[in-house]
Order: sequence, then structure tokens, then C-alpha cells
Amino acid sequence: MQTIRKFAAASMLAALSAGSTAQADGTVEVLHWWTSGGEAKAVGTLKEAFEAQGGTWNDSPIAGGGGDAAMTALRARVVAGNPPTAVQLKGPGIQEWAQQGALNDVQAVADAEDWDAVLPPVLAEIMKYDGDYVAAPVNIHRVDWMWANPEALAKAGISEMPTTWDEFNAAADKLMAAGITPLAHGGQPWQDATLFEDVVLGVGGADFYRAALVDLDQEALTSDTMVAAFDQLRKLRGYVDPNFPGRDWNLATAMVMRGEAAFQIMGDWAKGEFLAAGKVPGEDFLCAPTPGAGFVLNSDSFTFFKVSGDDNLKGQQVLASLIMSPDFQKTFNLAKGSIPARTDVPLDDFDVCAKKSHADLLAAIENDSLVPSMAHEMAIPRSVRGEFLDLVTEFFNSEMSSEDAVQRLSEAVARAM
Ligand code: GAL
Repeated sequence: MQTIRKFAAASMLAALSAGSTAQADGTVEVLHWWTSGGEAKAVGTLKEAFEAQGGTWNDSPIAGGGGDAAMTALRARVVAGNPPTAVQLKGPGIQEWAQQGALNDVQAVADAEDWDAVLPPVLAEIMKYDGDYVAAPVNIHRVDWMWANPEALAKAGISEMPTTWDEFNAAADKLMAAGITPLAHGGQPWQDATLFEDVVLGVGGADFYRAALVDLDQEALTSDTMVAAFDQLRKLRGYVDPNFPGRDWNLATAMVMRGEAAFQIMGDWAKGEFLAAGKVPGEDFLCAPTPGAGFVLNSDSFTFFKVSGDDNLKGQQVLASLIMSPDFQKTFNLAKGSIPARTDVPLDDFDVCAKKSHADLLAAIENDSLVPSMAHEMAIPRSVRGEFLDLVTEFFNSEMSSEDAVQRLSEAVARAM
């Protein structure tokens, strides 16, 4: 069986690389949430590559950063018995859908192209169910990034990017005094959770992050370190402008571009926005990891739902192969702000922030400080993540004390497990 699959995929891929549009077509309906400037540009590169092979691409974008709206739409489609052919999905969510028998595998393509040899093992594991690939990864995003407008910093007399939370707070106080909003932020649960997890890593370190946000250890969740993390989150709340509720993340990025705000704490999809607006890293905007040591991993991937019909099935195989092609991984990630999921794509044409991301990723693997993003669905089941998002958002939008937050969070997590 394995050999037959391998052979079938190999002949299809040979047709693909020979540029034979007659054989390498197929149809896909792609459900994704990439609707901001940088995101749309990035997903556009996949659409173009698929169409260039003679395929038909039906676009199903569901607006809403972080993908919560897209996941609700996906569930409705599956319940209605009409799943899309390909879906932007990641982390444990892949396993959850696979367990329900909702996914097709693309193992034949993975065998023919030896994906195991070119993906970091940690990522390959996430893409597989029962030993077979059911998803193809497009990138490696880093969540613990801080973006800044150098002119805004200069106006407040800040010459260096902060490397500790105390330095961040001191810089933010200077910006406040200079009349500049220190932190551009959008008050949406996933964005609040993004701030929170970066702070947890910075305040507690990678082992603490893992204990609290991955292993859901009650001792870690109720610890003084967690109280200190909420204290820092409370500080950050004081540095956002009054119009933050509900704001989309890309509009927060635009505030930094315009110099209305100095910093944004956000994953490197924010860099995709800066780049799409023609901004140059190191000149128009600065990047630095958020204070602390480690790397918060987020990786986007596409899964292939159970659909029927030769054209759709072929579309899935062709799309999987395209996603993993080195050319696509390069073009896509140059636009998206991330780095390739494949380890063999040269980074020569990538910018200084991407190169730093890559170097820090290797260092984090080496010293065991690579942690999966809780906010971006890489760490824990959606149901438990939902408890974190609810609590963190309530904390951010109320006067709740850090002690109460820790207590309520630990209770909510215990209930959800
Ligand atoms: C993340 C996703 C990124 C980016 C971001 C904002 O969850 O992994 O690719 O799109 O949401 O929408």
C-alpha cells in the first residue's frame, strides 16, 4: 500500500515539476483567516502558485485575527457535512479533528518528498496523526516579539530596545510623559492572551511557562511567579490608549507605523504588515524579542478535510506538495513575516528580524527554552485555552487583583480539564 501510494504521488509530482498543467490541476476550497494587508499578500502567493499549476482555487476567508471566527465557521461547515478541502489549522486542533475522523492524509506526498528529512521533528509530530501526515506546515512564527517606532522612541529619549520588563516599564513611563502612547494594543481576547503569554515567559522563564501554560500544573498556576506575571500585565494595561477595546491587531500595528504609539507586542505577522506598507526593518521599525529568554513557537499549517471527488482529492495532493516546495516556503514567508518551516531553505534574502528569529530558534532548541504558544493554539486543547482567554481578558478589562486572577484561573483550568 505504502509503495503504491508512493508511486502514485511520485508520478503526480513528476508531472508537477515538469510544469504539466494538464495533469497537475485539481480544485481546492481554502478556509483561512488571512485578511490583513500582509496576510492577504502572503496567502495570495499560495493561490497564485496553485493556479499557475492549472488548479482552481476557491477562496474562503473568515476575517478575525488569531482565527477564532474561522474555527467557528469550520465547525459549522463540518456539522453541515460540507467541509472545505483545505483549512488553516494548527497545533492540537489538528489532532482533535483527526481523532474525529474528519481528515484525509497526504502521506503519499510526504513519502515521495521525504518531508521527515526537511522538517524540524517537533513540527513534523504536530502534522501527523497515527504516523501519517494530515497537515502541511507553511511557516514558523515567533510570538514573543516587540515592534517599535524608532522616531517615537527618540522623542522620549529612548535609545535602546528594553531587555527587561523593568526597562520596558521605565521606557513606557518616559513615553507617557512625552505624550506618546507606549503600547499599541487591540483589546480582543487572543491579543490579550498574546501579551499574557509573552509576559509569563519573561517573568517566569521557559520551565515555568511550560508548567503553567502547557502542563497546566496547579502549583505553577497559583504561584507567586504567576501573581508577578499578572502584576506586569496590569502595568501594560496602563500603557494602552483609551480606544483599545475591540481594535484589530493590524490597526495597532498601523499606530506604531504612524508613530502614534511606540511599541506593539505581537508575533511576527506584524512584520508582514510593516513590510506590506513598504517599511524597512532596522530603519522605519525595530524588532526585538520581548524581555526574557526563550522562543514562543507558533506555526501555521493546512489540513485536508475528508472530501470526495477526484478533482478535490487531487487538489489536496497538489496543494500539499506546493506548500512544502522550497520556492513557495521562501516566497510566502518573505511576505508573511515568518521563517520557513523547512530547515533547508536558505535565509540569505530574509531580513534582520527573520535571521534573528532563526538564530534564536536554534538557540532555544539547544538550551530547551522553546515553548509552544498557548494563545495561538499550539499548546493546549481549545476548551482550556478558552478559559485562559476569558480570564485574562476579564482581568485586562477590570480592576481584578493579581491574586484573584491567579485563584480564578487555577479554578477555571481545573474545571476544564
Ligand atoms: C495567528 C496566525 C498568524 C496570524 C495571526 C493574526 O494565530 O498563526 O499567521 O495570522 O494569527 O491573524
